[in-house]
Amino acid sequence: MAKLSSLYVCQQCGYQSPTFLGRCPECGSWSSLVEQISTTSSKISNNPQPSKSISQVINLSDITNNQYERLKSSLEEFDRVLGGGLVLGSIILISGDPGIGKSTLLTQVAINLPGVLYMAGEESAQQIKLRVDRIKAGVNLAVLNEVDVDAITTVIEKMRPKLVIIDSIQTLQTQDMESAAGSVSQVRESANRLQRMAKSLHIPILLVGHVTKEGTVAGPKTLEHLVDVVLSLEGEATSSFRILRSSKNRFGPTDEVGIFEMEEQGLKEVKNPSKIFLENKVDAPGSVVVASLNGYRPILVEIQALVTKSYLPSPRRSGSGVDLNRLQLLVAVLQKRLGLPLFDQDIFVNVTGGLKVFEPAVDLGICAAIVSSLKDQKVKPGMVLVGEVGLLGELRAIRQLDKRVNEAKKLGFTSVIAPPKVSSLSEAIKISLQ
Ligand code: TYD
Ligand code: MG
Repeated sequence: MAKLSSLYVCQQCGYQSPTFLGRCPECGSWSSLVEQISTTSSKISNNPQPSKSISQVINLSDITNNQYERLKSSLEEFDRVLGGGLVLGSIILISGDPGIGKSTLLTQVAINLPGVLYMAGEESAQQIKLRVDRIKAGVNLAVLNEVDVDAITTVIEKMRPKLVIIDSIQTLQTQDMESAAGSVSQVRESANRLQRMAKSLHIPILLVGHVTKEGTVAGPKTLEHLVDVVLSLEGEATSSFRILRSSKNRFGPTDEVGIFEMEEQGLKEVKNPSKIFLENKVDAPGSVVVASLNGYRPILVEIQALVTKSYLPSPRRSGSGVDLNRLQLLVAVLQKRLGLPLFDQDIFVNVTGGLKVFEPAVDLGICAAIVSSLKDQKVKPGMVLVGEVGLLGELRAIRQLDKRVNEAKKLGFTSVIAPPKVSSLSEAIKISLQ
């Protein structure tokens, strides 16, 4: 059998070195050498031997059942983000800031399913038990405190669990590499070994990955191409809402969101997010309701704007839950096309509830909120605004208008201002202000 040894490979140019170097002698990049496993068999040979096990060629017409086999958890919101449950043999990465609720969410997924193996590298079994007690669920969970990925794969092979949870991937390591646990090479190699295991045994594996402040060191970014599904758990420190979003999914829609609320007894599913997000809406200048599409689901959210005289040489534009570049562009359009004096105004825009609305369909809502605050005039009651704003001040069509209109109707809104019925920004604003 080929012996495993490690090798340092430049991530920029592919230069290989047997020892670690701070700077690549080939391309000159700094800190670009990463440890990788190499098999010292036929690597150096000029005449590589053909592989002994030849893979079978599969004719696609021979595959009859193209439905994925899925494992359903009892958390509907979680399953929906995945596209209908955990696909057997898939590997799912769930990332998020420390303390956001990743372990809580996965513990809730685990305790409702039989045959789950929970690998805790960060917490002791006692700590997990405390969490389970807090969620007030029957305790029936196999927990393993282990950080050696090879020991873990051995246990999985013996136990054959229905689902494996690794909390977190940054704590795992293999003895075949010298670098410390949490380094890019250890994280990648551990994930690689788990992925092979998931595929061969047909077991879904959930990996927790922390987003570090620096973003790159041991970051989930290095894993994104390797896994089948990438989920992120987001939320504001000041809000109890937690949003689970899929940014990559080989078996379902991307950008699908699941919404939860962190409570004393764990995460609670929010079944009707539009209603919850609009619960505390106040009728005041600067407040607008938009219908944003997340995956396949329309959600109504309130956008608030505050426009106030600036005493700074360059006025502030600040956005939370909206794209800042887009906000700056919209302010420029409002200045140029509607002739609004925004050059000496600070502008703050906020999406309530901690949801991020990055699609252009919310442009009109942002503009209307800004004008409403600037002029101190309320938007008419019962109105929802959607539409993409072009640089010429025109309103551009948006996808799936019917779905958004239906959601607005369902929640008791009486009118939706949207293109193509209304085709210019100035017209839409004129109609919407009281
Ligand atoms: P945790 O799941 O440990 O976060 P992560 O694994 O992402 O680091 O939990 C995060 C926070 O959630 C923690 O500060 C305590 C809080 N929490 C609740 O409010 N209610 C609960 O039932 C639980 C289990 C945790
Ligand atoms: Mg945790």
